[in-house]
Amino acid sequence: TGLITLDVGYANTGSCQSAITFMDGEKGILRYRGIPVEQLAEKSTFKETAYLLINGRLPNRDELTRFSVMLNDNSLVHTDLKVFFQNFPRASHPMGILSSMVNALRSFYPSLNDTHEEEINITMTRLLAKVRTMAAMSYKISRGHELVFPRPDLTYCENFLNMMFDTPVTPYEIKREAVNALRVFWILHADHEQNCSTSSVRMVGSARVNLYAAISSGIAALWGPLHGGANQAVIEMLETIQKEGGNFKNAIDRAKDKNDPFRLMGFGHRIYKTYDPRAKIMKKMCDELLEALQITDPLLDIARELEEVALNDSYFVDHNLYPNIDFYSGIVLRAIGIPTNMFTVMFAIGRLPGWIAQWKESMDDPKWKLSRPRQVYVGNTEYDYVPIHAR
Ligand code: CMC
Repeated sequence: TGLITLDVGYANTGSCQSAITFMDGEKGILRYRGIPVEQLAEKSTFKETAYLLINGRLPNRDELTRFSVMLNDNSLVHTDLKVFFQNFPRASHPMGILSSMVNALRSFYPSLNDTHEEEINITMTRLLAKVRTMAAMSYKISRGHELVFPRPDLTYCENFLNMMFDTPVTPYEIKREAVNALRVFWILHADHEQNCSTSSVRMVGSARVNLYAAISSGIAALWGPLHGGANQAVIEMLETIQKEGGNFKNAIDRAKDKNDPFRLMGFGHRIYKTYDPRAKIMKKMCDELLEALQITDPLLDIARELEEVALNDSYFVDHNLYPNIDFYSGIVLRAIGIPTNMFTVMFAIGRLPGWIAQWKESMDDPKWKLSRPRQVYVGNTEYDYVPIHAR
């Protein structure tokens, strides 16, 4: 079998060649298809960024219109799906529900030919359009409210907020600042090269499974608190600190204690050994949003102080631990009314274009192979079976 190199957590293994996202963890650089994420966050729409990631270039006017029409046409979900949502136990985590429901979509929309380009395009658009609708739908059902349908006159971000918050008694008033915050939040999450969930999508996809199943595996991976689940974990950590009277020294001490599994949530990154460029944008937007909406969130003050103390603490400095995207994103989501247990679902909607683009890139690669890592065996050497009476 030859010599097998051990690389725990694949920290140094390139699993594929990719032309989608460039990251430089030392300098804090992130670009989608070559365009700095800062420029996209300032100027682009989420829809356009999704197109860019999937198709490799920005759309022209006609292409964007066609893409918008396709998204609108696919934005309704089969009403029978409602029954599924209604029958999950009340306390189910929305990420578990989403992962199952995305897998279930395959049964509702079976594809005749998984390799036909037209069919693939429809499946990709369907996912982008329907996952957003399904996320809002599960929220409405969890509240016992009537569903709100997507509207073709609203943008991708407006539509989501409207489906979440519009009710017959209080029509949702679309706030420019909230829409903008959501746009930036989703653009910043849209891709991040071979992270845990994207690698899951590629790996599961490499068995030539359908796209719904591959994305469903990505959602399951994203759920974890070391990955996408960190945005929920950050808020829960800040709330605990708030309950303890704002004393965050305990959290800092615990994070530094090698005998304590506790970690400072929203800090540290496998690749970024400097400030996460997404976190910089998120922090600035968080300040602007709260000011514009005239919201005072005590958790923001705690987060700011916590960051300052950590960045001046030798443990965090020596370990190159800086805030990552999740540190301020939860405060942004809270400000626009998203419940804490849906934070990671918001991440998933944002990451969808990246997962789809990476899956498509692997499919289009003539050298695409089944993912099948090796191991370094450390178990027993051969010994004979012992009958039960002799054990
Ligand atoms: N708090 C305290 N210590 C930490 C932290 C933290 N947040 N992160 C890393 N360390 C320490 C860790 O204990 C280890 O110390 P030592 O070398 O002394 O044993 C060292 O730093 C390296 O840690 P690692 O776990 O080997 O590094 P990694 O590259 O596997 O970890 C990480 C990356 C993101 C899993 C980790 O930093 C972490 O657990 N952070 C908290 C969870 C979090 O915020 N996740 C969101 C990541 S960004 C969004 C996304 O990708 O989904």
